[in-house]
Amino acid sequence: MSAILSVSDLTVAYGGVTALDGVSLTVEEGEIVTVLGANGAGKTTLLLGIMGAVPAARGRIQFRDTDLSRARPHTRLASGLVLVPEGRQVLVSLTVEENLLLGAHLRRDRAAVRSEIDAIYERFPNLGQRRHVAAATLSGGEQQMLAIGRAMVARPQVLMLDEPSLGLSPLFVSKVFELIQEMNRSGLTIVLVEQNTGKALSVAHSATVLELGKVAVAGPCETLRNDRRLLDAYLGGGSDETSEPSRQMQAGTH
Ligand SMILES: Nc1ncnc2c1ncn2[C@@H]1O[C@H](COP(=O)(O)OP(=O)(O)OP(=O)(O)O)[C@@H](O)[C@H]1O
Ligand SMILES: [Mg+2]
Repeated sequence: MSAILSVSDLTVAYGGVTALDGVSLTVEEGEIVTVLGANGAGKTTLLLGIMGAVPAARGRIQFRDTDLSRARPHTRLASGLVLVPEGRQVLVSLTVEENLLLGAHLRRDRAAVRSEIDAIYERFPNLGQRRHVAAATLSGGEQQMLAIGRAMVARPQVLMLDEPSLGLSPLFVSKVFELIQEMNRSGLTIVLVEQNTGKALSVAHSATVLELGKVAVAGPCETLRNDRRLLDAYLGGGSDETSEPSRQMQAGTH
């Protein structure tokens, strides 16, 4: 394996407040890396920093052999760094199909886009049946599938998912994790920010835990799974069962 994405010493400040402080992360091609951490640890900021959606005060983003540190978000997207943002952000007044087509806005190969969208409808019949209906009518779980579908239409080389299971019913949580594994098995490299620690550690190959904007722990998931006490100390709230309700309450504040 070789690194497809290397983040080194990434530092991001909002005004005077440092949200990310010298974070490094190596993503090997074909793996799932999960980024864990308590609320406010800097997980979203890390993904936004990788995309160039927030300015970095310091640090380097390398994608394969290309230094993207100074590249505009558009260039990073065109290189294959694709983010499914926190809270899904599908455009609810647009139809399912219009949302999927947004993912293709950088592509010129219309025929290939068409067949990929048809493949998404086949994989998710709920989306197919409602292709011409406003996305507002979809359930939260269906909207998450749509958001991931839209990202896939952008042809990611590294797909970044910011808390894709947040606020979903247990059925859709399972569906989202199944989809993540399926996409990874077909060769896609994934960076997965999650608060569902148990599930994230079970699908990912390696994990990085952020605490107050810094890397607290990083390593293979196998090692971290065996050291839940250490993890729980950084995740600020014990097991998934105890951390999830408090998380749900805060979910609406973003
Ligand atoms: N636009 C912003 N302006 C000012 N401060 C911000 C902004 N976005 C995030 N922050 C602050 O930066 C820090 C990191 O936030 P970030 O959203 O990256 O954390 P997170 O780990 O994604 O949290 P959560 O689990 O709640 O999504 C927090 O202290 C947050 O309050
Ligand atoms: Mg976040």
